[in-house]
Amino acid sequence: MKLGRLNHIGVATPSIEDSITYYRKVMGANDITEPFDLPEQGVKVCFVNTPTENGMNGTQIELIEPFDDASPINGFLAKNPAGGQHHVCYEVEDIAEARKWFEDMGKRILGPTRIGAHGTPIFFVHPKDMMGQLTEIMETPKEAH
Ligand code: CO
Repeated sequence: MKLGRLNHIGVATPSIEDSITYYRKVMGANDITEPFDLPEQGVKVCFVNTPTENGMNGTQIELIEPFDDASPINGFLAKNPAGGQHHVCYEVEDIAEARKWFEDMGKRILGPTRIGAHGTPIFFVHPKDMMGQLTEIMETPKEAH
């Protein structure tokens, strides 16, 4: 497997609206997408876009707020009530090849490969097998080429 670009950093928040205000007023962000629900992932999501460089989209901040009481990020927010960095997401060319790569090393993959917030296949690898970081692997969107 060849490591692709850092697509986004996932940041959990108790309030997506408060986080949007923070990114606008404190961080000077001016390109933030409208929040949308991803009920199958248990989150409400929006993206803070950093500037495009060399024709490539900038790395994004993915803001995630719990969608309901069953949200997988409720535990994280219980431990980190103000929110904070939740996961990192790297792109790969071939999601099936990447999954096999991690499986062959005995890394624990959390659930099936599924369609993520960017509409491309993703999976997550357990932080205890990834130097402490919950790691999302995402197939590079085809329109980026
Ligand atoms: Co993500």
